Amino acid sequence: MSLPDGVTRRAFDGTQSLATTGEPVYGESTSEGWRQWVPDRSKLGAMFELGVDTGLAGGETVLYLGAASGTTVSHVADFAGPTYAVEFAPRPMRDLLEVAADRDRLFPLLKDARAPETYAHVVEPVDAIIQDVATRGQADVALSNRRFLRDDGRLVMAIKARSEDVTREPDAVFADVIDRLKTGYEILDRQSLEPYHDDHLAVIARPR
Ligand SMILES: C[S@@+](CC[C@H](N)C(=O)[O-])C[C@H]1O[C@@H](n2cnc3c(N)ncnc32)[C@H](O)[C@@H]1O
Repeated sequence: MSLPDGVTRRAFDGTQSLATTGEPVYGESTSEGWRQWVPDRSKLGAMFELGVDTGLAGGETVLYLGAASGTTVSHVADFAGPTYAVEFAPRPMRDLLEVAADRDRLFPLLKDARAPETYAHVVEPVDAIIQDVATRGQADVALSNRRFLRDDGRLVMAIKARSEDVTREPDAVFADVIDRLKTGYEILDRQSLEPYHDDHLAVIARPR
C-alpha cells in the first residue's frame, strides 16, 4: 500500500508519524511545515497507519461526508484537489470555516448528507467519497451520494457500529451495512480500525 502523494512519514518528538503540509488545526505537532496526522483522531489516518489500500493517490476531487470541525478533512485538503466537506451541525461548521480560510481547495457545505439533492448544484463529479458520518443508515448515505462518484471512483468509508444500533454486536451491524452497500457498490476491502477506533470498520468500494 502506498501513501497518496502529499502524505509522508516523518519524525515528531522522536516518533514516526503520518504527516501532511499545511496550517495546524487540532493541536497536532508540527515540524518544518509538516503537520502530524494523528490516527487516534482520524479514521482515514488510522486506515493509512493500518495499511488499508484506499486507492487515494493524491490530487483527486473529493466529497467528504461528516466533516465535523475539520480534523481529518483538513489533511485531505492538504493532499487532494477540490474537497467538498459536508457537515450538518452548525457548531463544528463554525470551526470548519476557520480551517477552510487557510485552504483554498476546501469547500465547507452546511448540509445534511442524507439529502444530496440539496448540494447537487454545487458539487462536481468526484474521484472519491470519504465518509465518516455518525448516523443511522450509513449505507443509504453512501448509496444516495453515489451519484457524485465517477464510475472508476472510490468510496472510502468508516462504518460506526454504535451510530447504527448501540444494542447489537458490531459485527452483525457491519454485515448488514455491507449487504446494503452491495446494492450499489462492489466491496474491495474491509478492515477493523482497532486499536485506533473501537467498533469501526473501514470499507473500500467502487460503484457497480
Ligand atoms: C465522527 S464525526 C466526524 C469526524 C470527522 N470525520 C473527522 O475525522 O474529523 C461524525 C460527524 O457526522 C456528522 N453527521 C451526522 N449525521 C450527519 C448528516 N446526516 N449529515 C451531515 N453530517 C452528519 C456529525 O455532526 C459529526 O460531526
